Amino acid sequence: MAWTTADILDQSRRVAVVTGANGGLGLEVAKELARRGGHVVMAARDQAKAEAARESIRGEIPDASLELQPLDLASQGSVGEAAASILADHPRINILVNNAGVMGILEWRTEDGFETQLAVNHLGHFALTAQLLPALLQSTGARVVSVTSTGRHAGRAVDPANPHLSVRYDPWRAYGQSKLANVHFALELDRRFRAAGVPARSIVVHPGFTNTDLQARSVRETGGGRSQRFFHAAVRRVGMTPAQGALPLLRAATDPRAVGGALYTPQWVNWGAPVRRPLFGRSWNRDAMATLWEVSERETGVTFNLKPP
Ligand SMILES: NC(=O)c1ccc[n+]([C@@H]2O[C@H](COP(=O)([O-])OP(=O)(O)OC[C@H]3O[C@@H](n4cnc5c(N)ncnc54)[C@H](OP(=O)(O)O)[C@@H]3O)[C@@H](O)[C@H]2O)c1
Repeated sequence: MAWTTADILDQSRRVAVVTGANGGLGLEVAKELARRGGHVVMAARDQAKAEAARESIRGEIPDASLELQPLDLASQGSVGEAAASILADHPRINILVNNAGVMGILEWRTEDGFETQLAVNHLGHFALTAQLLPALLQSTGARVVSVTSTGRHAGRAVDPANPHLSVRYDPWRAYGQSKLANVHFALELDRRFRAAGVPARSIVVHPGFTNTDLQARSVRETGGGRSQRFFHAAVRRVGMTPAQGALPLLRAATDPRAVGGALYTPQWVNWGAPVRRPLFGRSWNRDAMATLWEVSERETGVTFNLKPP
């Protein structure tokens, strides 16, 4: 039997933080968690879009328990402020879905001097997770969900001497690097949970080829790049709906049987029901994971304290 939203258990008295909850997959995840009674912190950059997203959920689920939290993952300052604000209101967090992302955009440096795709897709989430850890460790069996992509196959593991791809920038190499980092981060975090005896799970998902704003934005932000236009045209024709693409995220976040350190994707990689699939080869490169962790701590100045409070 295919896993569907009907399999999501009661989420009442549970708190979920979802990044990029103002559109695309994040909005679907927020909606389905709220439908099951969860309190959802919608962490998002564009606040007008976030308010519209909240109203769209309330239009369907009038008693949805939702809260907006400004978060710009391209700014370590914003990440720190968001984490402090969330912690002040929520001493316990059950689910963190590190979903927000940008894809295939032109070279750009954030205010912290980071390459933007690595900054938003990985470094921002790395720092957010570390800073929310005290609240995640307060809940029994917390979940941290990271969102990768088949784009990871186009990327290399982070080079500590050049994590921001200063020489020969390529939009797909940068996206691939950030999405491989999502895999290495998720697996290393799960290993650290287990080494520390913490009953939390870190799970990585690939949503599948899904018709959201991701491809359209990459066209807008590159002024109509050729490969970006190709993916945009393709996803409009054959992409899954956001509701379908959100299923692997929702399964990883809520299925009691979802396995820490595992990958969940659509059955046929880019299409189909959410299933566990094996991770091969360099996904399990321990040296690359250790290097990513060191580089992420060095760049963000944030460290993980895995001692249960
Ligand atoms: N759609 C697919 O086919 C596909 C395939 C594989 C993987 N993914 C992954 O799925 C995730 C969600 O993407 P999506 O498809 O839902 O795309 P989307 O519709 O473009 O949504 C992306 C989300 O990320 C947010 N975001 C972008 N930059 C941000 C920043 N600096 N700070 C905070 N939030 C930021 C956006 O919010 P604003 O509008 O406020 O910027 C938006 O909510 C991404 O990690 C993507 O790599 C998607």
